[in-house]
Amino acid sequence: MPVRELSPDIYTVGVIDWDRTLFDELIPLPDGTSYNAYLVKGSEKTALIDTVDPIKEEELVLNLVRLGIGAIDYIVINHAEQDHSGSLPMILELFPMATIVTTAKCRELLVSLLGIPDIRFKTVEDGDTIDLGGKTLEFLHAPWVHWPETMLTYERESRILFSCDLFGSHVASSGLFHSDECACYEPAKRYYAEIMMPFRGSIRGYLERLLTYDITAIAPSHGPVYGQPAFILDAYRDWTSDEVKNEVVILYISMHGSTRKMVDYLTTALVDRGITVRLFNVTVADIGKIAMSLVDAATVVIATPTVLFGPHPRMVAVAYLAGVLRPGVRNAAIIGSYGWGGKTVKVLGDMLQGLKANMLEPVYTKGLAKEDALHKLDLLADEILKKHKDDRIV
Ligand code: FEO
Repeated sequence: MPVRELSPDIYTVGVIDWDRTLFDELIPLPDGTSYNAYLVKGSEKTALIDTVDPIKEEELVLNLVRLGIGAIDYIVINHAEQDHSGSLPMILELFPMATIVTTAKCRELLVSLLGIPDIRFKTVEDGDTIDLGGKTLEFLHAPWVHWPETMLTYERESRILFSCDLFGSHVASSGLFHSDECACYEPAKRYYAEIMMPFRGSIRGYLERLLTYDITAIAPSHGPVYGQPAFILDAYRDWTSDEVKNEVVILYISMHGSTRKMVDYLTTALVDRGITVRLFNVTVADIGKIAMSLVDAATVVIATPTVLFGPHPRMVAVAYLAGVLRPGVRNAAIIGSYGWGGKTVKVLGDMLQGLKANMLEPVYTKGLAKEDALHKLDLLADEILKKHKDDRIV
């Protein structure tokens, strides 16, 4: 990524990763990603805000060389995860006089995760500032975005918020700014769903606090900068609101067609009742799209055959993920078929506890669904509609 001036004496020095296809060995990256770092030059001092993933550390160093940076006084670390902190050991070697500025919790994690000697830190409290000379960095503690140590950094004179992972998007783009709202909505929502959704209660509080700041641009740690911050702030207010829509997400697997027959029947029954259905075959579905659909859905239905004595193993992984993402879904149901028995409903029911949803009556049937099972699916569709009406989303 070339060095660009974001504002007078504030530069982007991070790196685009066009080729990365998977994050955390879990999250698909259809659009690549970037590891953003920023350099702020005051008349007295210079600060680097965050570093980059260590797989790209040489490019970060090259960008600092391109800018002619001979000294760095402060390295602000907003977040200890290695895609932002992992180049810190190299930067500390190159700039031995630099002081790491971070929260107490982040300091502890950096020492633990990167083996950094516990001597080069300046620990900052919420609201503390550092004057670089005509540039003032203010630190806003924001624990659980999405780790417990995180902070945001606000540069008062330019009114730029360096938001770390918050408001990020996994997008590799040569553009400094998001080009238009339509293009950035989906990647930002995908990022929110995969990373931030479990912490939406905390994030709602940070959104309230940010209302008291005059922000001209939001510069996150992944993806382009938001030159029109109102767009992403409004989107986050919507996503974190706990409001749900008249939508059912059906996550299904079918080995020989029996479960699929039930899924098709239930889908038709729900659509007939005016409910939007989003259907995902989890053996091939993009989990980012599943996560996004869970941001809005009022109800999730897990549909799986029985493998040996329990749910299909691939469904176990997705049900676990749905539970830990803690979407705001209000209702959940389990349907499917079995050959000779098993504990599928019990196993999946336990895994879905994290949803804190109303567990609706399961429909689990031996072999191909017949009249009785299909009637129960109609009753399930009736119950889902009733729940949605009770929640006033129909
Ligand atoms: Fe982009 Fe939580 O690291």
